[in-house]
Amino acid sequence: MPRPLLVSIDLQALNHNFDQVRRLAPQSRVWAVVKSNAYGHGLVRVARALRRADGFAVVDIGDAIRLREVGIRKPVLLMQGVTDATELRVCNEESLHTVVHSIEQVRMMESLLRRRPLDLYLKMNAGMNRLGFPASQYIDIYRRITARQPLNSISLMTHFADADGAGGVDEPLRRFLEACNYLQGERSAANSAALFRYPQAHLDWVRPGIALYGSSPFAEQSASELGLLPVMTLSSALIAIQEVAQGGRVGYGGSFVAPRDMRVGVVACGYADGYPRHATEGTPVLVSGLRAPLIGRVSMEMITVDLTRLPEAQVGSEVVLWGEGLPVDEVAACSGTVGYELLTGLSARVPVEERRAPGDPR
Ligand SMILES: Cc1ncc(COP(=O)(O)O)c(C=O)c1O
Repeated sequence: MPRPLLVSIDLQALNHNFDQVRRLAPQSRVWAVVKSNAYGHGLVRVARALRRADGFAVVDIGDAIRLREVGIRKPVLLMQGVTDATELRVCNEESLHTVVHSIEQVRMMESLLRRRPLDLYLKMNAGMNRLGFPASQYIDIYRRITARQPLNSISLMTHFADADGAGGVDEPLRRFLEACNYLQGERSAANSAALFRYPQAHLDWVRPGIALYGSSPFAEQSASELGLLPVMTLSSALIAIQEVAQGGRVGYGGSFVAPRDMRVGVVACGYADGYPRHATEGTPVLVSGLRAPLIGRVSMEMITVDLTRLPEAQVGSEVVLWGEGLPVDEVAACSGTVGYELLTGLSARVPVEERRAPGDPR
C-alpha cells in the first residue's frame, strides 16, 4: 500500500485564475510564468492546460526545450537569458525569446554567428538591482544591439521589487516608461502583484506567475479576496491516533507537552514531502474538512495534530495540508514563509492526480 499522500492539481481552477488575469488586463497579452516546474504544478501539464496563454516564461533552458519537445510552438521566454554559446545556439534553433540583461550576454551575441534572427527582451534594472541595465545605459545598449544584431524582434522589460508592498511601482515604472518613450518595442513589466494593483503597469504583456496558481502575492490580501482558486491541494490521512495523558510529550525533542488529556492524530506527511519543517504549533490542517492545529515538531514523514475537538476523526480520515478549504498562504505564514516556497518545494515523490473540467480530453 502506498502512503496515503497525494497532490491534486485542479486544471479548472488554473483556467479560472487565467480568466481572472485576462479580466484584469484585457488589453495585454499574457506570458504565463511556468518556471520552477510551473511553481510545483507540473511544467508540461500547466502549459498544455493553459491553451489560451500567449506564451510561456521559464528560467531554465531545459524547461524551454521540454516545452518544444512536447509540441508547444507558442512563444517561450527565457527570463534570465542564456549563459553560454551552446544555450544561445539552442535558443536560436528552437526560436526562443530570450532576455538580455548583462553586457556579457550582449558581447556573447555579438561574437557568435546564428542561423536565424533573435527575439530579444532587453531588461532594465529599474531599482531592484538584480538583473538588467540601469536606466542610464538602457538606451545606448538598445541602440548598440539594434545596430549590430540581426533581430526578429526586440522588446522592453523590467521587473518590480515591491509591487506587493508599500513601495509600489511608481518610481521604477516612471524610469522604465521614460526610456521606452525613445525606443521601439513591446513592453512588459507586471508580475501578479502589479497586475492586481497597478493597471498602468499592464502595458503590452503581463507576466503573472503566482496568481495563476491561486496563491496571493500580497501578505494582507487573500487569494479568495482576489477572486483566485487554489490549484494545488496536498492531502493525506490519519495513520494513527494516540491518547496522550496530561503532561505527555509529543514528537522529537518532546517539545509539545500535553496541557490536558488529549487525542493526537498522526498524519502521513512530513518535511521530506515538502511540508515546512518550521511550521509552528497551531498551524491549521483540515481533518475531514474541520480545522485541527499542528502540535509538536514536523518530522520527515509525519506531523501530529490535536484531535481533541474532533471526536469523529479516526484512522483513515482525510487530511488536507493546504489547498481547497485551507489556503497555502495561511500555512506558509505560519512557517514564516510565502506560498511560493511551499508550492515550489513539494517533493517530486508525492503522487499527482489531475482534475479537469468534465469533457476536457487532456
Ligand atoms: C521576471 C519575472 N517576471 C514575472 C514573475 C512572476 O512573478 P509572480 O509569481 O509574483 O507573479 C517573476 C517571478 O519571480 C519574475 O522573475
